[in-house]
Amino acid sequence: MTDHKLYIVMVGLPVRGKSVTAIKLRDNLRRDSIKARIFNNGDLRRKMIPNNTSYAEFYDPKNKESVAIREKIAMINLHRAKRYLKKNGTVAILDATNASLERREGIETLLNDHPVLFIECINNDQEIVNTSLLRKISLPEFAHLTREESMASFNQRISYYESIYSPLDKEKSRVKLDSLHTKILEEEIADEISFYDQIRDFLVTDTVKNLYIIRHGETYFNLENRIGGNSGLTDNGKAQAKALAKYFANKDIPLIFTSQRKRTIQTAEPIKERQKNCTIVPLAEFNEINSGLCEGMSYEKIREEMSQVYLARKRDKYNYAYPEGEGYISMEERIERGIKKALYLSGPSGNIMIIGHRAANRMILSHFLYRRKEDVPYIYVPLDKFYYISATQNRKLFQQKRYQ
Ligand code: F6P
Repeated sequence: MTDHKLYIVMVGLPVRGKSVTAIKLRDNLRRDSIKARIFNNGDLRRKMIPNNTSYAEFYDPKNKESVAIREKIAMINLHRAKRYLKKNGTVAILDATNASLERREGIETLLNDHPVLFIECINNDQEIVNTSLLRKISLPEFAHLTREESMASFNQRISYYESIYSPLDKEKSRVKLDSLHTKILEEEIADEISFYDQIRDFLVTDTVKNLYIIRHGETYFNLENRIGGNSGLTDNGKAQAKALAKYFANKDIPLIFTSQRKRTIQTAEPIKERQKNCTIVPLAEFNEINSGLCEGMSYEKIREEMSQVYLARKRDKYNYAYPEGEGYISMEERIERGIKKALYLSGPSGNIMIIGHRAANRMILSHFLYRRKEDVPYIYVPLDKFYYISATQNRKLFQQKRYQ
């Protein structure tokens, strides 16, 4: 029989996207008028224990004293979750590593009044893990350590968790989620789990509250109609970047994703300067289409000197790859990876900004809005406007906006 109340228990090593997934589930359930609340062990630890508990040894499974403290915190949250469902709550989400089998058996024994769904978040992309760590170590509890010390300490903490980690296996209702690609790797669901249709959809939906897709400011190459290269911004381009900075000054932009090219980073810099706490994250995935042998050439020159390139591209722009370079089709995989990285690293943050290039932005846009492939290489990507996208499971908004 279906029980209309539910416990969701998150499982996974640190910085694997558990909290982001938990928040996404809670927000979407609430949007569907289902009462949901998160019980987060880390937040409770920081509230309850006045001493700093960020040092690695606190997570050593052999450290009896700290194990007892962490178990106590877990227990408090389990009881709070139980009380919440006893009263008027519908879904209680327990957000913690819940890494060992023993801990999970304890949870199942205690939470015996309603079904339990375990969700394991998996992400083994080391680059993403490292970038997520940077965000973790910016918490006040790491303020007394240098960046290197904080990284080493957090990595040690992860190793301690790895030493007791046991992946989901026998739990009656369980989902293994690739949290970077929002892809379900394995699922086993008992009939009694209510809301699972909704929950599954939330898990695999890329959610972006506010996504700003911006093209870099005008460059010297733009003036000459030349493609590729690594040209800097013109005075006009710098003025465009300043105008963008002014436009976004009163929005909170914690991360700006750019390509690794000078023009996108130069566009991001003035925006960052007007923010309180903002990091520029250059991703190779958002680099402009590599035009191979044609890098640095103007369109006119290509037409005159490499007419076969011009004609082949005209015939099938999406599938054509420049000699020794890329085509739109060969950008698919890396752009997709870049989008996943940007969404993952932004976590539940409301505003995400990507500063890219004409072809790269067309591919990013086509991820969110339906376009026939043959039309993607012609999507209008102006230098003086940006695209705004808001996408959740049940709502999609897409606008072109002027910033000047
Ligand atoms: O001209 C700017 C630019 O970003 C080039 O670097 C790139 O090759 C081109 O736009 C992509 O647009 P299209 O595919 O229409 O040539």
